[in-house]
Amino acid sequence: MAIAGYFVGQYAQGTLSSLGRQHVGLAPDYATQPWPVQAAFYFHIVFAGLALALGPWQFSRRLRVRRAAVHRGIGRVYLVGVGVGAVAAFVMSFFSTVGLLGFFGFGTLAVLWGWTAWRAYRAIRERDVRSHQAWMIRNFALTYAAVTLRLWYGVLILVQIPFVHGVDPIDTIMPHAYAPLPFLCWLPNLVVAEWMIRRRSLPALHLMASPSPGEG
Ligand code: HEM
Repeated sequence: MAIAGYFVGQYAQGTLSSLGRQHVGLAPDYATQPWPVQAAFYFHIVFAGLALALGPWQFSRRLRVRRAAVHRGIGRVYLVGVGVGAVAAFVMSFFSTVGLLGFFGFGTLAVLWGWTAWRAYRAIRERDVRSHQAWMIRNFALTYAAVTLRLWYGVLILVQIPFVHGVDPIDTIMPHAYAPLPFLCWLPNLVVAEWMIRRRSLPALHLMASPSPGEG
């Protein structure tokens, strides 16, 4: 909630160019982009922020059991948030501040974010509740990349401080801390999600096909 409120809210304080002059977040980088990229930026933060704020409520057993209609309603809005947020994020990945690393890292995340949401939706349309739960755990683990990115960023800035002397931190520490984030923000989340899925005995992903009966 804090990440959705603070990081999205800071861009409501002014235009991208006025926020860019105050060095707010990524505003200096996006203020100089063409308007379709700026539009993708705004669509992304609003719709992805909505998904991040709504997602946790969907894991409430009480809501699912006692208020199934509310769970369905929030779920539909969440899926719209992920759908629009992912398409906008994919567009933004072409213009990432960290170049090709951002394109491959954030671009793959955007595709997997949309795909896992689609699998979760298909599963529940087919009344396969257990697969729906498993795909939603994977999907929210990816939504949660917005949180883990900022946690990793803080940690990677702090661990460099003892080793860097007499340099401008904006020019050295921060770019080094940001560089691994397009992958680091979501790959460990997927491992944790898969562990949670197995602990709950939900349908887990298998890297190899299971042997057919009579084989081996
Ligand atoms: C899970 C899929 C997501 C992808 C693929 C993604 C992708 C991106 C990309 C490519 C950028 C620009 C980074 C750059 O240019 O270096 C960005 C920035 C941003 N994203 Fe996302 N994002 C995702 C989820 C979210 C969520 C759930 C939120 C909700 C808060 C969010 C909020 C933001 C904000 C506020 C920024 C501006 C960066 C800042 O000020 O720190 N994103 N995202």
